[in-house]
Amino acid sequence: GDPIRVALLGCGVVGSSVATMLTTHADDLSARVGAPLELVGVAVRRLDKDRSDLPVDPALFTTDAADLVTKADVVIEVIGGIDPARDLILSAMKHGASVVTANKALLAEDGPTLYAAADTAGVDLYYEAAVAGAIPILRPIRESLAGDDVRRVLGIVNGTTNFVLDQMDTSGAGLQEVVEEAQALGYAEADPTADVEGFDAAAKAAILASLAFHTRVSGAQVHREGITEVTAADIQAAKDMGCVVKLLAICERSGEGVEEGISVRVHPAMIPRSHPLASVRDAYNAVFVEASAAGRLMFYGKGAGGDPTASAVLGDVVAVARHKVGGGRGPGESAYADLPVRDMGQS
Ligand code: HSE
Repeated sequence: GDPIRVALLGCGVVGSSVATMLTTHADDLSARVGAPLELVGVAVRRLDKDRSDLPVDPALFTTDAADLVTKADVVIEVIGGIDPARDLILSAMKHGASVVTANKALLAEDGPTLYAAADTAGVDLYYEAAVAGAIPILRPIRESLAGDDVRRVLGIVNGTTNFVLDQMDTSGAGLQEVVEEAQALGYAEADPTADVEGFDAAAKAAILASLAFHTRVSGAQVHREGITEVTAADIQAAKDMGCVVKLLAICERSGEGVEEGISVRVHPAMIPRSHPLASVRDAYNAVFVEASAAGRLMFYGKGAGGDPTASAVLGDVVAVARHKVGGGRGPGESAYADLPVRDMGQS
C-alpha cells in the first residue's frame, strides 16, 4: 500500500527510543501494518544538539513542528506539557493525522477537547504510553473490559516516586538524592515536582477513572497528596509495623442511584509487606482492576523509562496505522454519564 508517513514530535528520553525503534524495526513494523511506515520528520527544540548516537537520518530533524504535523498520516507527540503540544495535536488532526501521545498532563487537563477534535476529523487518538509506561492497561480498560462494569482501579502509577520510596526503604537515602538518581535514569518528568507532588499520578488516575467509569474526570478533580512529607522516620515506623510506604492511585465507584459517584485520589499509604503491591520495586508500576463479571485483574511491569514507554507508543502507532490501511477507528470518548466526583481535589 501507500506509505504511512509518521512524524515524531519530541526527541528526549522517550522520543529517542521511539525514533530508534521506528528506524531499526521499520521492516517488521511495516509488515505488521501492511504498508511501509516512513519516518518523515523529528521535531526538536534545538538542531545543534549532538544526536549522532541515534540511527536517524540527520536530515529528518527540524525545529518546525507546526509544518511537520501537516505532512503526516500519524503524529507521535512525546514533547509533554500543555503548550505547544495541544495546538500541535489539534493541528495534526485537522490535517487528517491520527495521533499517538504519551501526554498524561494534557489528557487529564483537556482530554474532551482532543476527543472532540479526533471525532470531527475522523482520526484516532491513542495514548497507551500515558499511563504506567510499558504496561498495557488502557487498551484492556477501553476495549477488553468495555462489556463489563469496572468498580475499582487501584495501583502504583508513578515510577519515580516508587523508585524514591523503595530506595528510602532499602538504603535510608534522602529524598533529593534519590530524585536526582531517578532523573539520571530517565524516569522523572522534566520537572520532577510533577512526580513527587503527585501531579503525574493524579493525571494518570484521572485518565484511568475516565476510561474505567465512562465519565469525565480531570486531574484537578483528583484528591492529591504527594510524597514530599514522607520522612525517613515514617518509613522506619512503617517498617516496624511490617509495612512499606507506597504512593497509591485509587479510583472507585460508589453508591447507588442519586448517591452514585466516584472517588479518585492519590496519596501515600502503608501496605503490609505481604501485599502484592509491596513487592513492586524500583520504577515498576502495578495496577489492579476490579470488574463485576471479570473479578480481579492484575497488571505489572515497567512504568517509566525510554524503551518501556516507547514500546507502548509503537504499539499504538501500529494500531492507528492499521486503521489507516484497513479502515475503521479505535474507540472515542465513551462518556455515557457525568458521574459526580465525590472527593473534590485541592490541587
Ligand atoms: N515520570 C513518570 C514516572 C514517567 O515516573 O512514572 C512515566 O509516566
